[in-house]
Amino acid sequence: MLRTVTCGELNKNSVGKTETLTGWVDTRRDHGNLIFVDLRDRWGVTQVVFNPQTNATMHKTAETLRAEYVIRVKGKVEARPEGTVNAKIPTGEIELQAQEVEVLNTCQPLPFEMGETNVNEELRLQYRFLDLRRRDMVESLTLRHRVTKLVHEYLDKQCFIEVETPYLTKSTPEGARDFLVPSRLTHGAFYALPQSPQIFKQILMVSGYDRYYQFARCFRDEDLRKDRQPEHTQIDLEMSFIDEEDIMGVVEGMVAHVFKHACGVDLKLPLRRMSYKEAMEKYGSDKPDLRYGMEMKDLSGIFASSGFKVFDEVLAKKGSIRGLCFTPPAGVEFSRKDFDDLTQWIKNFGAKGLAWFKVTGPETVESPIQKFFDAARIRKAIETTGAKAGDIVFLVADTFKVACVALGALRCFLAEKHKMIPEGKFEMLWVVDFPLFEWNEEEKRCDACHHPFTSPKPEDVPLLDTEPLKVRARAYDIICNGTEMGGGSIRIHDRKVQSKIFELLQLTPEQQEAQFGFLLKALTFGAPPHGGLAIGLDRFVTLLLSRDSIREVIAFPKTQKGTCLMTDAPSPATERQLRELNLDAKRMWIEKPNRT
Ligand code: AMO
Ligand code: AMP
Repeated sequence: MLRTVTCGELNKNSVGKTETLTGWVDTRRDHGNLIFVDLRDRWGVTQVVFNPQTNATMHKTAETLRAEYVIRVKGKVEARPEGTVNAKIPTGEIELQAQEVEVLNTCQPLPFEMGETNVNEELRLQYRFLDLRRRDMVESLTLRHRVTKLVHEYLDKQCFIEVETPYLTKSTPEGARDFLVPSRLTHGAFYALPQSPQIFKQILMVSGYDRYYQFARCFRDEDLRKDRQPEHTQIDLEMSFIDEEDIMGVVEGMVAHVFKHACGVDLKLPLRRMSYKEAMEKYGSDKPDLRYGMEMKDLSGIFASSGFKVFDEVLAKKGSIRGLCFTPPAGVEFSRKDFDDLTQWIKNFGAKGLAWFKVTGPETVESPIQKFFDAARIRKAIETTGAKAGDIVFLVADTFKVACVALGALRCFLAEKHKMIPEGKFEMLWVVDFPLFEWNEEEKRCDACHHPFTSPKPEDVPLLDTEPLKVRARAYDIICNGTEMGGGSIRIHDRKVQSKIFELLQLTPEQQEAQFGFLLKALTFGAPPHGGLAIGLDRFVTLLLSRDSIREVIAFPKTQKGTCLMTDAPSPATERQLRELNLDAKRMWIEKPNRT
């Protein structure tokens, strides 16, 4: 090694020793004769002092040092003089009195200050090699490593084995668009990058590899957000001869193991469960954030036949009126404009309007629509929502789903805007009893809520023929602080049921055969009952670190537009590459595909 110790290692016990350090110049301060350099590597920072009286040539070299130069320095460890100790860092009690220095490499002027916390993200991604040197990136990648180690350790103890599945494969639907890779050897044919290893892990169960897991890279061409990347990593697992409880037990044990050993946080197990229906009713979301209250209430009964046209019409169409009580923090007043702005904002979630009451007493409110309601209704609404004087009750009347989702979004928005979310708190739960299908209005057909391999609840199977939208799934999601951290299900292991589901998704027998023939065949060769789950590793680590975006825990992430600003991917292919693939970027096929 070019060094004897790292920059995070020296402390009081090292005083008197001669050591050699290597690293990057974090800062250089010139104090007349003495030059102070904070030398940094991924383990920490050590203060190095260059004194011309020790070695004049060395001091001359130290004068040329600039930010991010790479150096090697030999010297004697000394205790820092009284009053200059830095208790905040492990090496804060010592400094290295340099005797020799060697510049291993220089560095151009930096595009941003390394210590700056507010650097433009595009610039950070363009210069990711510099950005990754920064403390918070080192911290997040180190924790990510720690989490993967802990997961391997836990699952190994539970007798899971890791099996890799292919990247070049056939479409594995998870509700997103596929990334396609053209085949050079079979012109006109494409591989799809896996959206998840879903079908392969089910096949592994058919093959008897009970208790499989894998850190699986998954590729999904979908609209990106701060918690979505075109490629993400899943802690993917599958078990045989189990039911929901077994999977949830293993997974929450694994999550608790990680929380404890990576962050020192004790999770209380078992995690609480909530049905999809309750989550929607109370929080307007299938991933409720339970770090704060503000449960929504059903006010349909209270406002029935009130004569207020908007509400009456919604109720006549079997819709719902939901209410949310909000306590503004001290000093916050809502003006008419604030309400108008919120009314506009909530339309993004499908609501047609937003009604509100400013509560002034146990039976009194201020509202543009109060004239429509008698005192008894107002008192009941105040009572049901638990509002006190000074609170605001927001109301949305719409279909059950739109009213819940819109008001649920308002709940999150208000909590965030008014800083009502406690920091450092982890509120986890399982959401269960999802519907198997949701209605796709555009295509006028059912879509699978989770994926098409999810088993219906046995008692709901008869409904498949009559009311498929009422069928519940044997699916479960693990939620933390309002983020879906993972999801899974018990799978269908009966070929007939699987075909029936495909049929309801409007796949013809020919399409079923072409897309999923191998799975359907495997199910008829002794498929055991099985199920599993996948946790989004990127989201998990982001939550553990309370970071704002998954890009903060991925070494080389993509932008919202799916580009890598450092490498400039995606980029055009060369003529030659295209020719070999028999592709023409403009015409697509140069000649007829040679596929038979
Ligand atoms: P699902 O699609 O719910 O399930 O994905 C599992 C978890 O992966 C994470 N995730 C993502 N993270 C970052 N960027 C994305 N684009 C992205 N998409 C998903 C989420 C999510 O909860 N095969 C099933 C699992 C199973 O049934 O076993 C699956 O992939 O944290
Ligand atoms: P309008 O009669 O449409 O002017 O609406 C009167 C009030 O009711 C306004 O404050 C609207 O924002 C509100 N409002 C309209 N539609 C709805 C709705 N679907 N749910 C809740 N409030 C609504």
